[in-house]
Amino acid sequence: MISLEVNNLTKVYPDGTKALDNVSFKVNPGEGVVLLGHNGSGKSTLFRCITSFEKPTSGNIVIDETDITTLSKSKLRPIRKKVGMVFQHFNLINNLSVFQNVLFGALGHTKTSFHTFAPFASEELRMKAMDCLDRVGLSHFAKRRADQLSGGQQQRVAIARMLMQDPEIVLADEPIASLDPKAGREVMDLLWEIVQERGLSVVSILHQMDIAMEYGERIIALKKGNMIIDESVKKLDRAFLDTLYHQEDFTETEGEKAGA
Ligand SMILES: Nc1ncnc2c1ncn2[C@@H]1O[C@H](COP(=O)(O)OP(=O)(O)OP(=O)(O)O)[C@@H](O)[C@H]1O
Ligand SMILES: [Mg+2]
Repeated sequence: MISLEVNNLTKVYPDGTKALDNVSFKVNPGEGVVLLGHNGSGKSTLFRCITSFEKPTSGNIVIDETDITTLSKSKLRPIRKKVGMVFQHFNLINNLSVFQNVLFGALGHTKTSFHTFAPFASEELRMKAMDCLDRVGLSHFAKRRADQLSGGQQQRVAIARMLMQDPEIVLADEPIASLDPKAGREVMDLLWEIVQERGLSVVSILHQMDIAMEYGERIIALKKGNMIIDESVKKLDRAFLDTLYHQEDFTETEGEKAGA
């Protein structure tokens, strides 16, 4: 069981946009956190820093008691594998089968192509991929092309692919934003069931307040790159959250320019 710590994280993009401004929080093992904030508030930037796809301007990120911002690429790889991602648009490879997409999850965040990897995938990995597909209730679609599934089914395949990587922390970037309400709830139920049964930590970006309060144990909210809420859901009042979320200056689409 590992924890995630974000300490005084600031990210200024080369064009001067300050996407994150001194953000700090900790996610304990097994905790379910919802990350709120309107367009451009820095949510995806935060996730990209945690997965090391962006380098923070200052501050650090500690995963499993290791500061990942100073690690070499080779030392970073095993830690990156502990962080599983689920995306709004599923990010499946459309012309591969459902099974192949899940098997691909074993690679984690590397650039190896599937065609280089697949012929060498062991029987053990193949069985594991089927188990992961089974867990999301889709083993009967194993041979189907990924793009021949509904959106909700594709997101379930993406969850199976994420499980294949044996993550300990799950980051979900608007996992239900492309789904209708029924499919969205099914995906949230499945994701939350899985993270709970495995004791994983999850941070999920959501825009639906009802869902956020129903599933999250804790809510973190960003506004123009600043953290404005970090509170247990039990202590948060829905009306207060609604006011904050609907305030006009909370719906800014532009990040702050550094030094502006
Ligand atoms: N590569 C980049 N270069 C310059 N600015 C960027 C870059 N990526 C994001 N930004 C800016 O940083 C700010 C935060 O963007 P980010 O994508 O993190 O927001 P978000 O909260 O995920 O928004 P959304 O809800 O629309 O997904 C925005 O002002 C955005 O325009
Ligand atoms: Mg985003």
